[in-house]
Amino acid sequence: MTSTDIKNDRLLRVAKGQVEGIEYPPMWVMRQAGRYLPEYNATKGDNDFFAVCRNKELASTITMQPIERYDLIDAAIIFSDILVVPQALGMTVEMIEKRGPSFPQPLRDPKVDLARLSKNVDVVAELGYVFDAIKETKKKLGGKVPLYGFVGAPWTLMSYMIEGGGSKMFTECKKWIFQYPEESKELLQMVTDVCIDFLEQQVVAGADIVQVFDSWAGELAPHDFREFSLPYLRQISAELPKRLAARGLEKVPMTVFAKGAWYALEDLCESGYDVVGLDWTFDPAEAVKIARGRVTLQGNLDPNTLYGGRDAIKKGVERMLKGFAGAKGRHIVNLGHGITPGVNPDDLAYFFEQVEKIGREVYGQ
Ligand code: CP3
Repeated sequence: MTSTDIKNDRLLRVAKGQVEGIEYPPMWVMRQAGRYLPEYNATKGDNDFFAVCRNKELASTITMQPIERYDLIDAAIIFSDILVVPQALGMTVEMIEKRGPSFPQPLRDPKVDLARLSKNVDVVAELGYVFDAIKETKKKLGGKVPLYGFVGAPWTLMSYMIEGGGSKMFTECKKWIFQYPEESKELLQMVTDVCIDFLEQQVVAGADIVQVFDSWAGELAPHDFREFSLPYLRQISAELPKRLAARGLEKVPMTVFAKGAWYALEDLCESGYDVVGLDWTFDPAEAVKIARGRVTLQGNLDPNTLYGGRDAIKKGVERMLKGFAGAKGRHIVNLGHGITPGVNPDDLAYFFEQVEKIGREVYGQ
């Protein structure tokens, strides 16, 4: 299936900067297939999180749940996790209920621990289940909306692999970049190589657009971001289109979401991505000024607004859409980060309805 076979291709068009005929912004939300949905909790049941990711029937069913519930959603995102890449590199990762991911043996000493990682990872052998889930989901979608593939950014994955899970201080991975910059770059390169192969195969399997999640970009000083994150983000955006061209496949739009990296927006607009995702700490109008039409912007309502009731949601949507009005249609609506487990699914429906309603007013002016 090519992108021309997708019935609702509003999001793909806006990602590519083709805004003609777009009457209100396309929309989706990060973590849209997750614990705030009762149907997700029912399907997941007591299954282990990664076992669900490895089961194409369950993973595709969960991916479809928000698409089936919300008519206004303009894209699906494959149900998986950024931490499947460290698993492919040979690390054990467990998902602990209500606590999040945990690595029983994180990387600590570069002299010893880099050697533990697999060389020449065969992503088809290690991550074939993701491609199977993508193929299954594409069948279920039947071209209704496009499907996002995704990968964690090398810096964010490196942080998890060294910290061993979520972190407040990032002391261990900061020790690496400051004490062992060369070994850190060796690790970042190993991760980058797998990320590129992984995205290539996701597109081969049917992903229509891809997103790179640099969730911990905001932990870096601007010069450290330029040294330890940006070059690897750029390698991904430069290499994927070449790989696809070599296979005779169409280029897919690429999104980078570098959370907290408002300091790097100028660099991100020149990093080879079609779409730049913004968290809620960016002022939309300021971001539009910096972007100067070079990329499509995605975001950025504070996800906690969804706890504020209908008035707060309506006001938040209005402020967001008016803030992005200067982007002249180069805007994909999203939250500034993933939707959280306590949100009432009906309030998310209201959010989408307001995006359509207020979006038509703003775009009609
Ligand atoms: O709907 C979607 O967005 C697609 C699926 C998706 C998941 N994780 C499912 C998931 C995607 C795109 C991700 C990406 C991901 N995973 C990121 C980048 C985005 C971000 O949030 O910054 C990160 C950092 C991870 C790592 C990760 N996975 C964490 C920190 C956690 C625990 C968070 C929590 O909410 O407890 C996970 C688990 C996870 N990934 C869940 C889901 C639906 C919850 C698992 C459960 O059912 O208990």
